[in-house]
Amino acid sequence: MSTPLLFALQSATKVQALEALDGALLAQLTSFVANQTQARILIIKDPRPFPVLDAALKSFFDPQRMRTDDRIVPNPQTSDIMAMVADARAFAPDLVLGIGGGSALDSAKAVCALVSHEGDLDEYLGPQATRKLERRGAKLVLIPTTCGTGAEVTKFGVYTARSGRKYSLNSPLLQADAAVLVASLVADIPPALLASTAYDALTHALETLWNKNANPVSDALATEALVRLLTHFRPAYDARKAGRAEGTFELLMAACEAGAAFNNTGTAAIHALSFILSEEWHVPHGGACAFFTEDVFDFNSQEPGVRVKLGEVAKRVWGPAATVKQLREELLALKRHTGLPCTFADIPGASGLEDRRIAELFDKVQEDFKLKNNVPPMGLEAVRLLVGAKRL
Ligand SMILES: [Fe+2]
Repeated sequence: MSTPLLFALQSATKVQALEALDGALLAQLTSFVANQTQARILIIKDPRPFPVLDAALKSFFDPQRMRTDDRIVPNPQTSDIMAMVADARAFAPDLVLGIGGGSALDSAKAVCALVSHEGDLDEYLGPQATRKLERRGAKLVLIPTTCGTGAEVTKFGVYTARSGRKYSLNSPLLQADAAVLVASLVADIPPALLASTAYDALTHALETLWNKNANPVSDALATEALVRLLTHFRPAYDARKAGRAEGTFELLMAACEAGAAFNNTGTAAIHALSFILSEEWHVPHGGACAFFTEDVFDFNSQEPGVRVKLGEVAKRVWGPAATVKQLREELLALKRHTGLPCTFADIPGASGLEDRRIAELFDKVQEDFKLKNNVPPMGLEAVRLLVGAKRL
């Protein structure tokens, strides 16, 4: 197991990598973070069964001072989160332990923050927010079970408001105190989930590079993450298809590295566009991010500074003769190889719509602050061209 040294040092979250997790380790970890042995613990967990993890949780669980909530849904809505918050406020935990994919970790982040606040999550979201996170009473520990979101080390949570709009909530108060990367938890990840989450991680690293907030540290982290992802994505996916587990832990570490990278910068055009796909047609996050990747890549790689960074990634992965075009072709090939959506024909509900109606739906991306991070700037006409090209 290689050491996640660079991103562990850079992250505001303490990151620990382990081969496996058991009840005794969970007890040590939560006691250390809560700074007490009898902490009240709320476990927010993906409902997907994990035999080894479930056994660890069973031996760790103390019904006198612990509760479990597994009401996790993909792309969580504020109403889903608030049902969990209501019970959490009554329980008043000292520590929230979030275990699962991005939706579970984002749910844990919001619940942990809102137990010490009043009001509804909707009031904290978007440009018209009327409330702001100001404190956090409970500690937060996050354990990812997919290879992609990096949510365990970021200060972002993504929630769909009652209006139907999807928003990123950005606050250092959403950042976990500790994250644990456990190799055995991703060893049996289903291939399709591996593909969508690892592709999400690829886009996190790319969007860190073509970002107006980029700095030398974020560039270094994103480049490392891309090299590791591009080296291991295809072999790990093929291994999982064949029932083996090689490379899944490398992807988990790379995703964490990409998370530490974009925690510096925020995301950019790919994520801004992806939110429309998820709002309109409920496309899962990884597939929604994959959808426009090569199109945004073509637009952004025209900018000389971005092109230099992408060329450096290609050379690190494939050697000194490698090109930016090679990187672009591999990003598209990975989508095709893993069955991620490539055109509107792949998205149920979108394929029957008129071109003009689709273009109108994407016009609202101009209001999204993530788009404003993009280098080079992407205006209305550029977005319309990019969306139109997907209809061909
Ligand atoms: Fe993402």
